[in-house]
Amino acid sequence: MSSPGKIPVSILGATGTVGQKFVSLLADHPWFEVAAVAASSASAGRPYGEAVRWREQSALPDRIAGLMVKDCTPPFPGPIVFSALDADVAGPIEQALARAGSFVVTNTRNHRMDPDVPLLIPEANADHLVLIDRQRETRGWTGAILANPNCSTAGLVLALAPLHQAFEVEKVFVSTMQAVSGAGYPGVPALDILGNVVPHVGGEEEKMERESRKILGRLGTDGVTPAEFALSAHTNRVAVIEGHLEAVSVGFRRRVTPEQAIATLRAFRASPCVAGLPSSPAPPVEVDLRADRPQPRLDLDRGRGMAVTVGRVRPCPILDLRMVLLGHNTVRGAAGQAVQIAELLVADGRVGPHP
Ligand SMILES: NC(=O)c1ccc[n+]([C@@H]2O[C@H](COP(=O)([O-])OP(=O)(O)OC[C@H]3O[C@@H](n4cnc5c(N)ncnc54)[C@H](OP(=O)(O)O)[C@@H]3O)[C@@H](O)[C@H]2O)c1
Repeated sequence: MSSPGKIPVSILGATGTVGQKFVSLLADHPWFEVAAVAASSASAGRPYGEAVRWREQSALPDRIAGLMVKDCTPPFPGPIVFSALDADVAGPIEQALARAGSFVVTNTRNHRMDPDVPLLIPEANADHLVLIDRQRETRGWTGAILANPNCSTAGLVLALAPLHQAFEVEKVFVSTMQAVSGAGYPGVPALDILGNVVPHVGGEEEKMERESRKILGRLGTDGVTPAEFALSAHTNRVAVIEGHLEAVSVGFRRRVTPEQAIATLRAFRASPCVAGLPSSPAPPVEVDLRADRPQPRLDLDRGRGMAVTVGRVRPCPILDLRMVLLGHNTVRGAAGQAVQIAELLVADGRVGPHP
């Protein structure tokens, strides 16, 4: 039974790190209500409260604890399915759901670079949403797949978007310090990460390089033409629980001073439609110029985890500007932004009625 006026939604991979963040963010959502949770055969058939090893700080709501975990075969209640599945199994499951009529908002890597799948950061490229019309037509699906970028890309590109619009990015050099929660649960073994830095996050550098260019690309009649800039990423896993910190140098096609970049980041606002979504933070980018900020422990929850914090904006002797940014990997980089994308589907009139 769903509450009157709320749209039922389902969560795949609900027992994992990102799945639990979905449950916690959707517990009191004004438009959506969790109607079904699904995971692997090891969890299916058990009440969610028993199957999950709950790691969120908020209490697990009784109603959701009592939901029986489903396996991942359709049908699912409600028009929207959030996917937080292991990428090794997600592809065919997400396709089957979209074929069967669901709007699948996915955190997995599987479909991000498909030309007819929008890869969305709503504040940066909400116009790419229309790609789902072509996707549904060419694939003959009644539903569609919409993708959330990789967690390091989400933070980086939200901060780059206003700078790209104003000064046109030409080159990016980025070195990440990524939290262990980015590897899911139980993730990186304690003996590998405590007192240590691991200078490799599998596949992440390639994802940052291609996804950034697609998100900041231009939408035309033939789809998205990727933005033309070079990006060099070094990705590192550090002993932080949540929050990806990124040290970035950027070269631009137009001249820009640190003061102009700071003013541009501070003035950045989403379109009125996106700004009005329940999960959208105001502002999307916070600039903090204190000498030792941002820090994961102190700045992670700005904008309820949906804002990116930028600091240390200064000249770069090799490219034009240097800065440090922080993004919440399981909120802006995963569940929070996926919920925001689903809100955009509702606000755009593609799922209704608007509660
Ligand atoms: N963690 C992050 O910060 C982050 C950020 C962005 C994107 N992502 C992506 O989001 C997805 C989930 O990540 P995570 O960190 O939440 O991983 P996780 O903690 O390992 O959770 C994986 C989930 O997938 C389910 N699953 C595994 N095998 C399955 C199968 N054969 N059939 C159905 N369900 C299966 C698991 O269910 P059981 O509990 O039943 O095994 C669990 O619910 C991944 O694709 C990841 O790359 C993660």
